[in-house]
Amino acid sequence: MSKKTKKPVDPTRGGRRPMPRGWPGMGGGYSTYLQAPAEWRGTTVQVCGLWPFAAGTGSPMVGVPIGRNILSGATMCCDPISWFMRAKLISNPSMFVLGKPGLGKSTITRRMALGLAGYGIQPLVLGDLKPDYKDLIEALGGQVIQLGRGRGHLNVLDPGESREAALRLTGKAREAIQADAHGRRQTMVSALISIMRSAPPTDREETIIDEALKVLDERFQGTPVLRDLLQVVQDAPDRVRNVALDRGSLDRYRQITEGLEASLIGLVGGGRLGEIFSEQTDNPMQMDRPVVFDVSNIDDSETNLQAAVLLACWSYGFGAVAVSQALADAGLEPRRHYFVILDELWRVLRAGRGLVDRVDALTRLNRQRGVGMAMISHTMSDLLALEHPEDRMKAKGFVERSGMVICGGLPRAEMENLTEVVPMSEEEQNMLIGWQDPPAWDPATGEEAAPPGRGNFLVKVGGRPGIPVHVGLTSVEREINDTNKLWRTGADGRPLKVEVADDGTEEVVEEYSLDDPALLPPPDPSTRVVARTGVDE
Ligand SMILES: Nc1ncnc2c1ncn2[C@@H]1O[C@H](COP(=O)(O)OP(=O)(O)OP(=O)(O)O)[C@@H](O)[C@H]1O
Ligand SMILES: [Mg+2]
Repeated sequence: MSKKTKKPVDPTRGGRRPMPRGWPGMGGGYSTYLQAPAEWRGTTVQVCGLWPFAAGTGSPMVGVPIGRNILSGATMCCDPISWFMRAKLISNPSMFVLGKPGLGKSTITRRMALGLAGYGIQPLVLGDLKPDYKDLIEALGGQVIQLGRGRGHLNVLDPGESREAALRLTGKAREAIQADAHGRRQTMVSALISIMRSAPPTDREETIIDEALKVLDERFQGTPVLRDLLQVVQDAPDRVRNVALDRGSLDRYRQITEGLEASLIGLVGGGRLGEIFSEQTDNPMQMDRPVVFDVSNIDDSETNLQAAVLLACWSYGFGAVAVSQALADAGLEPRRHYFVILDELWRVLRAGRGLVDRVDALTRLNRQRGVGMAMISHTMSDLLALEHPEDRMKAKGFVERSGMVICGGLPRAEMENLTEVVPMSEEEQNMLIGWQDPPAWDPATGEEAAPPGRGNFLVKVGGRPGIPVHVGLTSVEREINDTNKLWRTGADGRPLKVEVADDGTEEVVEEYSLDDPALLPPPDPSTRVVARTGVDE
């Protein structure tokens, strides 16, 4: 029997057959729009009986659940550490997040940090400017380190735990950890001077700092501060004079070191960069729990101070991670895994010439094993707006070297620069451009609605097609990240309940403690939350 005879024939229409979408003509029910068939999702256990009509999803299911694939609705899991360690999808456990402000870059990173914490990986937020991460880290039982004018100090000459670690280690491992600590301190002093002057120190000054730090380590008992380094430079010990090439003349030495001395005095005297770096660290970092450096009370107008504090946090944090890894390598401590978050990268890069190099030096880890990194910035143009071509090339390298690049809504002007580093199809580019559309006005309230692209991201790994995903926040996350007026925190950090009257006035009604559930308000008897369906009865 031929295939043709199988098709239905309508005898009332002269034995003709319908067209693929029905009978043409009036009353025939011809469909101009072909509806897509309904799709359902289920686990392999549930849908195996439907074989061969089930199809697998394209998105990897390894890592922290992020949200749903915008095109297929499938669950999408992704984080740099799982994709590197378990799925072997990326070549190094790092990611770079790009996107216009307010579209949820910090939120997707926060989700990854939360999920990874569940896998036993400690999130380390090295500098939280908003604060975006403080509440999460607090909720995870982590350590919050306050930094700011009059709010806490971070001694840039503090070798942290590396000194004790060096005593426990031997041979090459000890030398490596000492060299690392020395390098970080020198980089930090040079970086602070770069920010103060908006230009890097000269080669000669760098050599002087290097030698002065070595002299300081030999001379000084305990932990030195910047004032002690200044003292060494002023004391003019022979070794420092030698590298300064003063040719035996103290006058010449004074001339050579004048600029350096002035910069150090500026740092010590609480000048533009404040006293944050010149006193002993008052809250050392604990490596066995999540940590956030809360630097949110530094005003946005103090761009240099923000950059300096962020750099200092990165230096301190990466130094601590290096120590922890070295001790684990030697079998002296359990191996801990970290997810290091560097938000608002552009603020540091902009603060002065040569800072790209410092960031590169500070954030490079000898042992990448088990340490994931997330860098967050706005646009490629931010990175490419740097004044000097070599800085621009290196800044581009941060994106190029990242295992995965996650892009939110971006302007069209950005595409040329972006596609140079991350290959993208026309379709993908249009998607990103669409996500940065401005939000609609809500005519009822007169307020702006949420931007259409908020929470939408394209996950790109190398030249593969990107996976578009929407980050859906859970109720718990919304609470942690609450900007709702009804809950405020009192001076001691406890939640306060605030009642908002119709005329907009607010009144604190009662104080509750999160520690004591008995103090929480009794549930309203008129509502009952049903766990199964999640609806109020
Ligand atoms: N997926 C989402 N669903 C709902 N709200 C979201 C989502 N993602 C982000 N938001 C909300 O959008 C606002 C901005 O988010 P976020 O701070 O993460 O943006 P950002 O891209 O980091 O901004 P910036 O560049 O200014 O740091 C926050 O109030 C956040 O709660
Ligand atoms: Mg942010």
